[in-house]
Amino acid sequence: MFTEFVSVDGLCHPKGRDAVMHRLYINDTEQKLLKNTNTRLVAQIWGNDPEKFNQASKLISELGGFDGIDINMGCPAAKIVKQGACSALIGQNQLVSEIIQATAEGSSLPVSVKTRTGIKQHITEEWISHLLSCNLSAITLHARTQKMMSEKPADWNHVKTAVEIRNKSNIPVKIIGNGDVSNYSHGIELIKYSGADGAMTGRGIFSDPWFFNPDVKTPSIKQKLSLLLKHVQLFENTWESSKNYNILKRFFKIYVHGFDGAAALRAQLMETKTATEAISITSGYLKNSDFQE
Ligand SMILES: Cc1cc2nc3c(=O)[nH]c(=O)nc-3n(C[C@H](O)[C@H](O)[C@H](O)COP(=O)(O)O)c2cc1C
Repeated sequence: MFTEFVSVDGLCHPKGRDAVMHRLYINDTEQKLLKNTNTRLVAQIWGNDPEKFNQASKLISELGGFDGIDINMGCPAAKIVKQGACSALIGQNQLVSEIIQATAEGSSLPVSVKTRTGIKQHITEEWISHLLSCNLSAITLHARTQKMMSEKPADWNHVKTAVEIRNKSNIPVKIIGNGDVSNYSHGIELIKYSGADGAMTGRGIFSDPWFFNPDVKTPSIKQKLSLLLKHVQLFENTWESSKNYNILKRFFKIYVHGFDGAAALRAQLMETKTATEAISITSGYLKNSDFQE
């Protein structure tokens, strides 16, 4: 599990440091969940100044609660790429080596990189060969170039190539494939196909919140709405009024789809202005509906 995207560039300014600290804060509910589910937590950082990576690494280690540090070398967003960070680092071998080394020297936590196959063209072989020489614990390869954003289909042949290079080199770095994993069994198929050590999903969880629970194949309406209630409640408990309520709305479709009346309920929820309103509407729907469970 990754924490949110944390910019290491904010670390130099007192205000920025507070913002970063806040985002690295693991609240009580999260701590309990991590413990109960024996989940490892990795802090992901981005930037392009080795010295700041070193400071960020020290800070993460001092804060405690993290099992590793991941460096984002994959985000293709224009405003990030313009700063020379994330996927803009692909192929910048000297700087990348320095960033990884500086991060590793800041703490004893394992360091990994999440990246793509290239910028405009796939350069999987050269790029992965370089990353393999950087003493990483793991590489997550999103099987698309920066230019492909997340629109063109991911090509897991590149994950397979990365695994072959790793196997030939005999360097013990885990390779995790990423891109278009649509459900749990699809992930297992792609792992078998590519030989990867694991698969990571991004948007899969948006179409199926039970992605990681293959026992729930077709969640009932009650299960979907109860999970929505839990999500809204956790949002409220975690952020109170410090985050804009509207950002929660992008999640409503995950839970409220695939049943009669879903569109109307969703429309009602989209009109809400507070978590309390959303909870009241959803609880009312659950109470008044006579669907079979
Ligand atoms: C809303 C959203 C936020 C994301 N945030 C991050 C992030 O903070 N760090 C990261 O490495 N990747 C991030 N990604 C990219 C995903 O981890 C993943 O690489 C990408 O979505 C491709 O996988 P998918 O085809 O399974 O979605 C994000 C993707 C989405 C859709």
